[in-house]
Amino acid sequence: MTLLPEPAVAPRRSLRLSLVPRLCGTVGLFILISSWAGIFYHNALFCSKNGRGTLKTAKLQLLGHHHRTHHHTGCSTHNESQLKFESQTVSSPGDSSSLPDSEHLGLEELRELVSTTEGFLARDYSLNLGWNNIRYIIEAALLQAKLLHRTLILPSFIYARGCEYGIKTCGDYFAMVNRGDALGSNEWRELPVEEQMGWVIPINLMMNITHLRETHPVITVSDYLRLHGVDPTAEASNGQWQRDRYHASDVKNVFTGKTPELYIIQNEWYDEGEIVRVDKISDEIKARMREDEAHGALHALAGDLPQNVALDWNRTQEILNIWDDHELEKIMVEHGWEVLHTFRPVKGMELSKAVTEPMKQFARRSAIRGFQDDFSGRKEEVLLLSGPLHIRRKPGGMRFTTRFALNDYLHLVLHDIRQIDAIISLADLMVQRLYDLVGGRLWMAAHMRRGDCKTSSSLQHLLRDIPILVVVRYNFVMESSPEKHIVRVKQHLKDGRRLIESIHEREEALRSYDIPDIPGSDYEIYSREPPLADDRFYVATDERNDTVLQEFRSQGAILMDDLLTISDRRMNGPEISWALMITDFRGLVEQVVLSRAAYFYGHTMSSVVGGVMNLRGKRGVDPRTTDVD
Ligand SMILES: *[C@@H]1O[C@H](CO)[C@@H](O)[C@H](O)[C@H]1NC(C)=O
Ligand SMILES: *[C@@H]1O[C@H](CO)[C@@H](O)[C@H](O)[C@H]1NC(C)=O
Ligand SMILES: *[C@@H]1O[C@H](CO)[C@@H](O)[C@H](O)[C@H]1NC(C)=O
Ligand SMILES: *[C@@H]1O[C@H](CO)[C@@H](O)[C@H](O)[C@H]1NC(C)=O
Repeated sequence: MTLLPEPAVAPRRSLRLSLVPRLCGTVGLFILISSWAGIFYHNALFCSKNGRGTLKTAKLQLLGHHHRTHHHTGCSTHNESQLKFESQTVSSPGDSSSLPDSEHLGLEELRELVSTTEGFLARDYSLNLGWNNIRYIIEAALLQAKLLHRTLILPSFIYARGCEYGIKTCGDYFAMVNRGDALGSNEWRELPVEEQMGWVIPINLMMNITHLRETHPVITVSDYLRLHGVDPTAEASNGQWQRDRYHASDVKNVFTGKTPELYIIQNEWYDEGEIVRVDKISDEIKARMREDEAHGALHALAGDLPQNVALDWNRTQEILNIWDDHELEKIMVEHGWEVLHTFRPVKGMELSKAVTEPMKQFARRSAIRGFQDDFSGRKEEVLLLSGPLHIRRKPGGMRFTTRFALNDYLHLVLHDIRQIDAIISLADLMVQRLYDLVGGRLWMAAHMRRGDCKTSSSLQHLLRDIPILVVVRYNFVMESSPEKHIVRVKQHLKDGRRLIESIHEREEALRSYDIPDIPGSDYEIYSREPPLADDRFYVATDERNDTVLQEFRSQGAILMDDLLTISDRRMNGPEISWALMITDFRGLVEQVVLSRAAYFYGHTMSSVVGGVMNLRGKRGVDPRTTDVD
């Protein structure tokens, strides 16, 4: 196996911009400088000032996850509602990036696809966010579209935020925009110019659209425009649905000649105030609602349950001191509550939107609103669910009234949304190389967030969810100094090694998460020997400092560029080697690699980790082998 050159021989990043602007586009130089480790900043969570987190105030969430809390941070904060509905457009990438195009449907094909549904569901996509956030926004949108029997309109592109080789190089292959201009935001204005830039990445590089279409009718904004006789370049650069432009009088369905009507579901109708949004309300619940209306609900219940909050099953058991599930449900339902199905937040925070731990809650019947009940059956061709709907929400953006519906959603997240094949085969290869490097034994992996304020694009919306205790404890990165951080990682991986050894010694039966449609517990952990104390381990990180990365390596870390050769990058065609210049795309590959580790250690405050957890859940790994700190 030919490993790439060590960082010592690679040109320094700071020189790259000035010295090698044009030549960088060539594959040769691309390889030479590629020993820069996998950089990984999908979305930023860490806010630093002299290396210290500067979150000033925060409130501890006491009950459930429905309380709204306010926080201030020392970093420039982002306000999503500032995104303008008016926005410029971006031109699609030039010829140099002839990306996979098999998903491109002709007009007839589009018509056929759409004809199976009752019009379109559009969203305002927060394209300022990193891919993992956009992914879970799309997951929720697919659910919403499905409940309304509508074709979901996806953004045609997202913005990648990192280029591994200097902005000029990536600019040669992908359309480059100033994200501030494209998104109508001043969030990044004070940063060095290369950090203000973004690269237009077609959505079909980030997920397998063909595969998704097998189960969910989806088109892109650009398809919508073509279908209505508009040049696709009219697509807004900020991801917001253009209420005027996309419904102007010159916008006419090429088959019917009609201008599409628009109906807007206002953001505050969704779950503002006391509303607990659910998928749909069953006939039994409807009957009980009518009963409540006629006779008034029984409210007095021992233990004074908190009002208007979705209560965890466990907590309700404790408060009422009723431990029999059947009995508990009966009493709660009699007193005006309903059982809802949702997902346990990782470490109590709705940040990662991992779907690995289904759980039950209770919510007041009077607070429950069915999404399907409220919004299906409208006749307008386009229904727009306006504004952002992910902050502090559960995965899917709603709870479910049946376990069956929750399972359906799990299937969507774990199976219908999938990476493109090239990512999976590249990850397969990296995994094989990892086994080679550790003598065929099991290997472990960590995600090390090292980011700082500069990359904090989505800081604010994440902070609102973080209790103060957690902030104090974590200071937003696990450790501010790289030395301490790697020590911490190694400590956790040591625990991981002990766990694997003990599983082997005791020949334990393995568990898996409580999720359907997986092949059962993953017994691969028994097919190889446990790691040895000084085995190397995989690290995915957003750290860029050469010295630090070298230190990580000397501590045993293996980074993405240590595993890939020139021919690997070419293996799947030039599209993929170009895409690998983009940090956000590399992150997708790394996520798959992390999911294959025998033991994974990651950071709670990261939607990257949510993606890894979902992939691990799908594999059937024992929950104890996923260590989120
Ligand atoms: C966000 O911006 C909007 C419009 O500029 C403003 O009305 C709103 O108060 C802002 N919200 C926050 C939390 O700053
Ligand atoms: C809550 O219940 C789940 C099972 O639904 C269990 O795994 C978990 O340990 C319980 N948590 C607490 C704090 O009791
Ligand atoms: C998408 O998935 C399908 C299988 O559903 C596969 O045949 C196709 O090659 C995949 N496309 C890409 C770009 O990976
Ligand atoms: C890289 O990290 C080292 C060690 O932490 C530090 O001394 C150096 O200043 C950093 N270099 C840059 C360019 O930030």
